[in-house]
Amino acid sequence: RKKVTLQTIRRLYDKQTPITMLTAYDYPTGLLVDRAGVDLCLVGDSLGMVALGYDSTVAVTMQEMLHHCRATRRGCRQAMLVGDMPFGSFQASAEQAIRNGFRMMQEGHVESVKLEAGEEMAEHVRRMVQAGIPVLGHVGLRPQHLNTYGGFRVQGKKAEQAIGIIKDALALQEAGCWGVIIECVPDEVAAAVTQRLQIPTIGIGAGRECSGQVLVYSDVLGLFDKFSPRFCKQYGQLAGPITEALAQYCDETRERRFPAPEHSLPMNEVERERLDE
Ligand code: KIV
Ligand code: NA
Repeated sequence: RKKVTLQTIRRLYDKQTPITMLTAYDYPTGLLVDRAGVDLCLVGDSLGMVALGYDSTVAVTMQEMLHHCRATRRGCRQAMLVGDMPFGSFQASAEQAIRNGFRMMQEGHVESVKLEAGEEMAEHVRRMVQAGIPVLGHVGLRPQHLNTYGGFRVQGKKAEQAIGIIKDALALQEAGCWGVIIECVPDEVAAAVTQRLQIPTIGIGAGRECSGQVLVYSDVLGLFDKFSPRFCKQYGQLAGPITEALAQYCDETRERRFPAPEHSLPMNEVERERLDE
């Protein structure tokens, strides 16, 4: 399989072939996602919740993103690697956005960054793109704004709000984004955005009309038993089998059934006899 680049993504978009994206957070998850043949691998700031155990993505720092982007890069070879810019890393000024964008590429080894940003960040995005940083936008529900929303709900149910989302996406395209993620909006809103843009839309909870889809690693695999949003499809329910395997190891160890003879490392006869002397 050939290395996926922005040219590859552009070709898929032009042929109207759905673009596939999954999140990964470290070497082993990057390896598995890459091996599955995904086009785009996202080190999302969902990292905070999925891998670090935070309550939201707001606490995730540049240091944490860089650490996990580097690890994911080592596993992810063919897929194009995109890194999420964490809350507070790009909003303060265009200079801050550029500086941290460079860090994501140079220290995180990603090929593109993603920003939860709309029209209000278009100037920062423009400056980043001019500086040579490929940017993926992110409109609709923006989890980094949790504390502003006071909770998560579907975005763009009212026409006025939907028009705002369309404007955000258009402004990001105008600023030079190569694509836009659309999160948690009615199908019609994502379809309207997709029709109006000349760059790919990648949806999560955004219906069937987007140019591609993205899902979170642990949601796809069912790694947590807890609540899974309706728009996620679980392609595996692995929390149970993994827990069972680990519990079985504990049981067998306590019962002295593990290690069994076949797990023992041999010593040669001569040395064993010398040991007995
Ligand atoms: O952080 C993340 O995983 C994301 C995707 C859900 C798009 O932003
Ligand atoms: Na994110």
